[in-house]
Amino acid sequence: MKDRIGIIYSTTDGQTLKICNAIVSVFNKKGIQIELFSIENFKEDIQSFSKIIIGSSIRYGLHHKKIIEFINSNKIILDTKKTAFFSVNLVARKPEKAQADTNPYVIKFFKTIDWKPQIVEVFAGMLDYKKYGFFDRLMIQLIMWITKGPTDKNTKIEYTNWEKVNEFGMRLVQL
Ligand SMILES: Cc1cc2nc3c(=O)[nH]c(=O)nc-3n(C[C@H](O)[C@H](O)[C@H](O)COP(=O)(O)O)c2cc1C
Repeated sequence: MKDRIGIIYSTTDGQTLKICNAIVSVFNKKGIQIELFSIENFKEDIQSFSKIIIGSSIRYGLHHKKIIEFINSNKIILDTKKTAFFSVNLVARKPEKAQADTNPYVIKFFKTIDWKPQIVEVFAGMLDYKKYGFFDRLMIQLIMWITKGPTDKNTKIEYTNWEKVNEFGMRLVQL
């Protein structure tokens, strides 16, 4: 079988997975099967896929190491498939940094990786201080203070634009 459609993701607190699940719903509503894999236990033969979507959140400025390794070691095969990539981060909560070509992490990512998926998107993630350990919370508070975001330790805000996620899902269906 060579026509599987797969999403491979990396998530730490679950927001990227939540976005993946919304994409899966878009496909399922159209009666199209799509498989979801965490990068942590992806052991499939990627040749069996015709379309591959890769999603990762940003932590301390970087996409997940395993996602980068996966892309680098499968680049030649990925180039023969229909592919898409999306990034999840908090900088994308700012409208001027909410597009693939204006988000600093996405811009930097594609400068450092030799891969050009047909579709690239970026979504704002979740800010939930109560989920973070002491050090991470302090660091995120600092980043938020610098970028004029909320610093109250009780803040929980989901910045993800679900309409944008649905539109992305539709573009992926058509890819
Ligand atoms: C420890 C930590 C570091 C983070 N670093 C960044 C960062 O450097 N830039 C940014 O825009 N967002 C950063 N974020 C925000 C995450 O990208 C955001 O919360 C996202 O929703 C996480 O997605 P996930 O739950 O799928 O991992 C960070 C979050 C945490 C918890």
